[in-house]
Amino acid sequence: MDGNGRWAKARGLPRIEGHRRGVENVLAILDAGAEMGIEVLTLYAFSVENWQRPAEEVAALMGLLEHFIGLHTDRLVQRETRLRVAGDISALPAGARGAVEAAMERTSHFRKRTLCLALNYGSRTEIVEAAKAFARDVAAGRATPESLDWAALSQRLYTAGLPDPDLIIRTSGETRLSNFLLLQAAYAEMYFTPVPWPEFGPERLKEAVDSFRRRERRFGKTGEQVRCGR
Ligand code: IPE
Ligand code: MG
Repeated sequence: MDGNGRWAKARGLPRIEGHRRGVENVLAILDAGAEMGIEVLTLYAFSVENWQRPAEEVAALMGLLEHFIGLHTDRLVQRETRLRVAGDISALPAGARGAVEAAMERTSHFRKRTLCLALNYGSRTEIVEAAKAFARDVAAGRATPESLDWAALSQRLYTAGLPDPDLIIRTSGETRLSNFLLLQAAYAEMYFTPVPWPEFGPERLKEAVDSFRRRERRFGKTGEQVRCGR
């Protein structure tokens, strides 16, 4: 969800106003995604690197997160959507962490749809933590080095149990992954758009998904191609 700050700046507004509009857009995208049958939607909301922003902006983002979750957990329940988190939320301010934990608990039984918020998320941190967890299991005799395979590693990632992303969308014209789901993205289709996140509404999401459906995925093989469209 990139481009909130630039969207605001272009309108002579404070950055935080861009974040507010970005959060409003999350609601629209959540509803549109549910309608389009998207089962898992992961939003990169706050990266491990984002702590380096001015304290005021960080505080505003955390406030928005707490506010958003508090206000819209009912909507998640109505939509039978489970909330999950990718990242270490123990570092979040108590208010935001509490809101996220309460919403996860209230929605943990839903299976149909998942909203995964990447919060204090960084792919390299995630991989390092997974490696540490595996090393601890080896040290404790619960695993052997030879037993490490992709399944064993991926079940120690923050995204354990979630499917790999089929489509990754980055808004606002940047064409990089910026430490997002590096391993999970191995076969993901990429979609880059100049549209800033506050303007990436349901119509834009539909365009992205339509583009995905026109693609063919081969997963490293020749011949048998997997059509994305259903
Ligand atoms: C994305 O918008 C929101 C978060 C990272 C929380 P930015 O704040 O990165 O907006 P730009 O990139 O400065 O325009
Ligand atoms: Mg940005």
